[in-house]
Amino acid sequence: MTTTPNSSTPLAADRATAEVIARAVSAYRVKFGEEPAVVAFAPGRANLIGDHTDYCDGFVMPVALEIGCACAMGPADTIDAIAADFDSDGVSLPADRPATVSDLDDDRSWQRYVVGSFEVTRRHADIGHTGARMALASSVPTGSGLSSSAAVEVSIITATNALFGLGLDTLQIAKLGQQAEHEFAGVPCGIMDQLASAAGQPDRAIMIDCRSLDLTLTSLPEADDAVFVLVDSAVKHSNASGAYAARRSACESASAKLGVPALRDANADMIAGVGEALTDDERRAAEHVVSENARVLAFSSALAEGDIEAAGELLDQSHASLSDVYRVSCDELDTLAKICRETPGILGARMTGGGFGGWVVALVESHAIDAIDNHVIPAFQAATGNVSSSRIIRPSQGARVIDTNG
Ligand code: GLA
Repeated sequence: MTTTPNSSTPLAADRATAEVIARAVSAYRVKFGEEPAVVAFAPGRANLIGDHTDYCDGFVMPVALEIGCACAMGPADTIDAIAADFDSDGVSLPADRPATVSDLDDDRSWQRYVVGSFEVTRRHADIGHTGARMALASSVPTGSGLSSSAAVEVSIITATNALFGLGLDTLQIAKLGQQAEHEFAGVPCGIMDQLASAAGQPDRAIMIDCRSLDLTLTSLPEADDAVFVLVDSAVKHSNASGAYAARRSACESASAKLGVPALRDANADMIAGVGEALTDDERRAAEHVVSENARVLAFSSALAEGDIEAAGELLDQSHASLSDVYRVSCDELDTLAKICRETPGILGARMTGGGFGGWVVALVESHAIDAIDNHVIPAFQAATGNVSSSRIIRPSQGARVIDTNG
């Protein structure tokens, strides 16, 4: 689901969330012939700055979006799940033994996120043989860099937490989602996506120190001055494709050669001093992570000082590093970011998330917001043939249990 900046009102967002919840509940009723006991909703996220730093103990600054995944759940003697968006068959497994990847249909990758999230949660909570029925529906486009998978994971874990009274806090929920992604989807992701989805706050970005896991709530510019807008490159990508894991592994070998616990602890002098010891990939990894961490901190200061020009410049620098140094962009993202950068009133733009496709986040002066629809999107289509759309970022509440009687 995408909307133009002008139609993406808070009311429209509330309606869209209600629609996703209704779809999950309806799929649950149709499949299982009863009402769900619990319904949870977890958002996708956009990252304003700080990409490919979370798995290096670094800094990131995501916001939880209004779009997300709804999970309707009830107790059962088996593990039964259906994804309203993907197929009507669903998956059914015995609950009296651990579920593993080999139980799941290779052609239906959604099963990995769904069953994996439930499995790691019941294992963690030591309720090993407990089953559940669940139905999922999502408004986060898949393969878009907006964390559709984290929204699925966090919605299921939040529902499981509520249904069985597990008492998990947001950090535990996020860590279990990350574990499901590692174990069942095979993506060695950091903590950013799941923590943003679990702990998001309305009207705030969250700066996460991915070592201490401290969260600092950050105010965005006044809406009259500037807004963050997402613009779609219409290129899909999966972090399970191997390029993500390769980047993470280059970071780990680079930090080992630099003699630091993680690239968070490296600096430009160390990289210069280590000579030929780093491979080209390792040097690129180290240079990107060191500079990107510094940019997140500078961006946080710029927002605090209301210096939106400086914030925009940091977005541009971040994109350049992700594209030219770390090589996780693609031609379409580069084209889109460049068109944004060259458009009057757009202060800066960068890819967001894992990369290789997905959306660009742009900082746009409010008086120039129409330039996205009137100039950026047509110019991008003329350059690439891709049909884009956009949505204003309105940071929203993280994962929550929904009162369906209200
Ligand atoms: C994906 C991962 C995150 C993070 C980003 C890049 O979204 O899931 O942990 O590494 O890529 O910043």
